[in-house]
Amino acid sequence: MNKIEELRQEAMEKISNAENMNVLNDLRVAFMGKKGPVQDLMKGMKDLSKEEKPAFGQKVNQLKSELSSLIEQKKVELEAKEMLAQIEHEKIDITLPGRKPVVGNTHPLNLITQELEDLFIGLGYQVIEGPDVVDDLYCFERANIPKDHPARDMQDSLYINDNELLRTHTTAIQMVVLEQMAPNPIKVVCPGKVYRRDDDDATHSHQFMQMEGLVVGEGITLSDLKGTLLFLARKMFGQDKQIRFRPSYFPFTEPSVEVDVTCHICGGKGCPTCKGTGWIEILGAGEVNPNVLKMAGYDPEKVSGFAFGVGIERVAMLKYGIDDIRHFYTNDLRFTSQFKRFE
Ligand code: PHE
Repeated sequence: MNKIEELRQEAMEKISNAENMNVLNDLRVAFMGKKGPVQDLMKGMKDLSKEEKPAFGQKVNQLKSELSSLIEQKKVELEAKEMLAQIEHEKIDITLPGRKPVVGNTHPLNLITQELEDLFIGLGYQVIEGPDVVDDLYCFERANIPKDHPARDMQDSLYINDNELLRTHTTAIQMVVLEQMAPNPIKVVCPGKVYRRDDDDATHSHQFMQMEGLVVGEGITLSDLKGTLLFLARKMFGQDKQIRFRPSYFPFTEPSVEVDVTCHICGGKGCPTCKGTGWIEILGAGEVNPNVLKMAGYDPEKVSGFAFGVGIERVAMLKYGIDDIRHFYTNDLRFTSQFKRFE
């Protein structure tokens, strides 16, 4: 009986002082486990006399249930304590300022493309995009540039195979649209990437962007082209600008023109940027060559049209004062994050 009391004292004290769940678990195994002292007491019963057994057994059982409920009580207490400690540890300081997500902005080339698209949609044009890989037929033949034509030298090309190449100008899309729309009227702009075999430098890139414009219908003249391009020049570069046509040559237009806009630096007086002329070249254009119309299935006696091809990089460089075309492609955020849409 003394042994039981001693064990009770020891166990009660240790369990009450358990600091955490691990210690409590160890104590439970140590006292109540199969090889523990409570079990030893039970085993020792067989050496007792018949009279002693019931009272002893009762005492041991009492000890067992006392210790069990103490352990249970301690367990609840420790679990609550550990949870509080965890909550304290994981506390969030809601007064800290939040982290702002990094928001990107539109690439300058997309800004110019969107601005041009908006302008032409406003004039009733449709925006049409086509594939980057095109047949020789659409890039050259239908553009009035047969296989042995010297004009092919103007656009050194990147071929996929004997017949397919990366389009050297968006004029290739113009030719696809012409074939698909014939004999109906057309009013489209076709933006996209174009590719030429070129050595990259401040003003040349083997890949750049153009936007093609094409209008076909009855009585479409060079003055319609001029009015449209004046509208474009003033929207993109300012209402005070003028344009001028200079005679040029493209196999797919006749007559062909190079279009200049008033120099944005000197306002037309002449400066180093415009090489003293007062004008800056912005695009190539012309009346659609009757031969091109005929090949696509139109009757050039009944309809006529105009086309132009504007370089997106060129417009962006003039508008934003960018001095090296390579800035557009090197993804330096210090450069690309500077551009916002002008309204
Ligand atoms: N395709 C010509 C170029 O890339 C531009 C152009 C388009 C000229 C349409 C006239 C008409 O240089």
